[in-house]
Amino acid sequence: MYKTGKSIVLLLFLLSCQNTPAHHPDTRAQVNEARGLVKQFAGTLKPMLVEHLKKDGPTGAIRVCREAAPRIARELSERSGWIVKRVSHRARNKDTAVPDAWETKVLQKFLALREKGADADTLEYHEMIRLADGTEEFRYMKAQKTLKLCLTCHGKNVSPDVLQSLNTLYPEDAARGFELGDVRGAFSLTFKPDDGPKRDSN
Ligand code: HEC
Repeated sequence: MYKTGKSIVLLLFLLSCQNTPAHHPDTRAQVNEARGLVKQFAGTLKPMLVEHLKKDGPTGAIRVCREAAPRIARELSERSGWIVKRVSHRARNKDTAVPDAWETKVLQKFLALREKGADADTLEYHEMIRLADGTEEFRYMKAQKTLKLCLTCHGKNVSPDVLQSLNTLYPEDAARGFELGDVRGAFSLTFKPDDGPKRDSN
């Protein structure tokens, strides 16, 4: 009896060790920074999109997604030292938005959680990755939820004029047919602590 108790304690101890993520000292700061960058990205793009949808209609607003989104990503990257992008398991822009192996794995996690009923807005993931050359890379992803406004260009009933524009600009478009609440894609951010300015040197 006593012996069983002891092994249960040991087992619990081992399990708790396993469940404790190996926290890099900078991880919390980097998660906060990544969240801030995502807020800036979404907080700049979405109002622009809403404004142009109202002013120019959806075909005009396609330009915002096509030109403003990569520009905002580039500006944020230059300013912060992070690589900031958007990716999707069903990419519209095959040149910029096709996920790499790590991003694919995280998107699959998001999709599985969404399937179980999670709100896509709450899904985020981060990991410090040790690369083959011994350096580390911090990676962060946050899912992008399909809202009503997104359906105009990513939904099941896209109007003929929008479809025509999309077909011309993105002949291999896979970003249609989404439903409200679906994971549309994700913001994906990478930071290489070894390259960037020294943070929290403790
Ligand atoms: C006016 C049409 C339009 C609306 C509305 C729209 N998008 Fe897009 N979206 C696009 C276009 C066009 C692209 C491709 C941009 C490019 O070439 O980089 C795109 C690309 C994306 C991407 C990048 C990945 C990929 O597939 O290329 C994500 C993520 C995305 N949209 C999410 C959303 C979400 C979330 C909403 C709603 C908040 C939304 N979009 C609303 C037209 C639209």
